[in-house]
Amino acid sequence: MSVQSRIRNEALRAKVMSAEEAARLIPSGSTIGMSGFTGAGYPKQVPTALAARIEAERARGAPFRIRVWTGASTGPELDGALAKADGIEFRLPYNSDPIAREKINSGQMQYLDMHLSQVAPVAWQGFLGPLDVAVIEVAAIREDGTLVPSSSVGNNKTWLERADKIILEVNSWQSEALEGMHDIYYGTALPPNRVPIPLVRPDDRIGAATFHVDPARIIAIVETDTPDRNAPFSPPDESSKAIAGHLLEFFAHEVKMGRLPPSLLPLQSGVGNIANAVLAGLVDSPFENLTAYTEVLQDGMLDLLDSGKLRVASCTAFSLSPEAAERLNRAMADYRGRIILRPQEISNHPELVRRLGCLAMNGMIEADMYGNVNSTHIMGSRIQNGIGGSGDFARNAFISIFMAPSVAKGGKISTIVPHVSHVDHITQDVQVVVTDQGLADLRGLSPKQRAKVIIENCAHPLYKPLLKDYFERAKAGSYGLQTPMLLNEALSWHQRFVETGSMLPA
Ligand code: COA
Repeated sequence: MSVQSRIRNEALRAKVMSAEEAARLIPSGSTIGMSGFTGAGYPKQVPTALAARIEAERARGAPFRIRVWTGASTGPELDGALAKADGIEFRLPYNSDPIAREKINSGQMQYLDMHLSQVAPVAWQGFLGPLDVAVIEVAAIREDGTLVPSSSVGNNKTWLERADKIILEVNSWQSEALEGMHDIYYGTALPPNRVPIPLVRPDDRIGAATFHVDPARIIAIVETDTPDRNAPFSPPDESSKAIAGHLLEFFAHEVKMGRLPPSLLPLQSGVGNIANAVLAGLVDSPFENLTAYTEVLQDGMLDLLDSGKLRVASCTAFSLSPEAAERLNRAMADYRGRIILRPQEISNHPELVRRLGCLAMNGMIEADMYGNVNSTHIMGSRIQNGIGGSGDFARNAFISIFMAPSVAKGGKISTIVPHVSHVDHITQDVQVVVTDQGLADLRGLSPKQRAKVIIENCAHPLYKPLLKDYFERAKAGSYGLQTPMLLNEALSWHQRFVETGSMLPA
């Protein structure tokens, strides 16, 4: 199938040009809404050409920087290339690219880390300023000019509606069978015109299969056949397997107690290797007829679909290893009806997460003994990725679960600490903490009760006596006893790591 045949609208075919020509249509200082979510469905040609142009302009003495809005993280051809060219002045709402991370942490790039469900409504509110250009990857342009979305939806609907000018990348690597797998809801509005979103089950379809777009605003179309580029997952290690085991035992117990149905509730599974290991564990579990209402579909979820245990997965993007992406691409039509891709405003919508009663399972950097969770910052000040969708799900889930190995950096860091160095999720939004050591069910417990369970069940043996000692001294020496804390010691473990390279005392 040639690329040309993916552009089935005669009039739009006349707008095809090279990525370099399209990049020349973007002025310095522009705010650009790009497609892309976890290495899926991001534009591959125009950002790279734009990065080359930025470097050339700088060599001529003409500074050139842009503001970049996306769905979430993207691939090296977008964030990596533009950050390397030092072309990004401002970035939102999530990043996992290492070069961009360095620019952010060295203060060269402004970064607004946002709840992913809030990006589209915030863009409509207008305080972020106008959106000058949308650069959006699509799988095809239909005869009637509507667009077939590709492997992520993210904020594309909003960018296409909001941007003054639109550049499309038509990617023939994306499966043509994607057509019909998306559900683009056009019913959102700002208050006071908001209405309930009519979705009551993960497999409900409430929108259109394609994006509508004003053809007059399309200024360029670029063709490509470059694959999505997601990092491969590492096979589950002992720690991830232990975490998965504790969690599955907990779910089985909840079913036994009659607090969860035998098919559980819609699963939300975060990014990373641990989440993937939990999904792998579900393949061999007794649970059947599962559903997922989640942000990304990763390898483990594809395996669950293949095993027949997972009936349907609703998400906004694929987040697959290269092998799994090729596997899905080859058999895409077989998954129709079992995978639904939605705008992130809907996949992560607090109203829907609360209504469906999602079981939210997200990774964390650290938790403290009271169950505050840090998902974003290393040693309080250095951003790792961003909050992503974890806040959308954690606050509204039926059960909100956070998981991590009990130690990082070979034991030099405890992920259970007296006080987190940065708070993303407050104790009220954290009901279960799991490490390789065990699981702490914090539901219904007061702060001091939570501390006992977290230290006992989740802390690594290297750090458990230190935490117990701190807790006892905090109870004796605090200003108040609801949440005992020694103010000058609460972050001393982090300070010790920064100074000596280990949280363990010398
Ligand atoms: N203190 C300091 N560094 C820590 C740490 C801690 N407590 N815990 C982990 N790290 C380091 C690791 O050593 C690793 O460093 P390296 O890259 O130099 O090796 C890095 O942080 C990432 O850790 P890793 O164990 O590989 O993380 P992960 O892939 O399991 O991801 C998060 C963990 C928290 C970074 C990830 O889940 C995330 O970005 N979450 C926020 C977004 C989110 O939840 N999205 C899903 C919502 S749908």
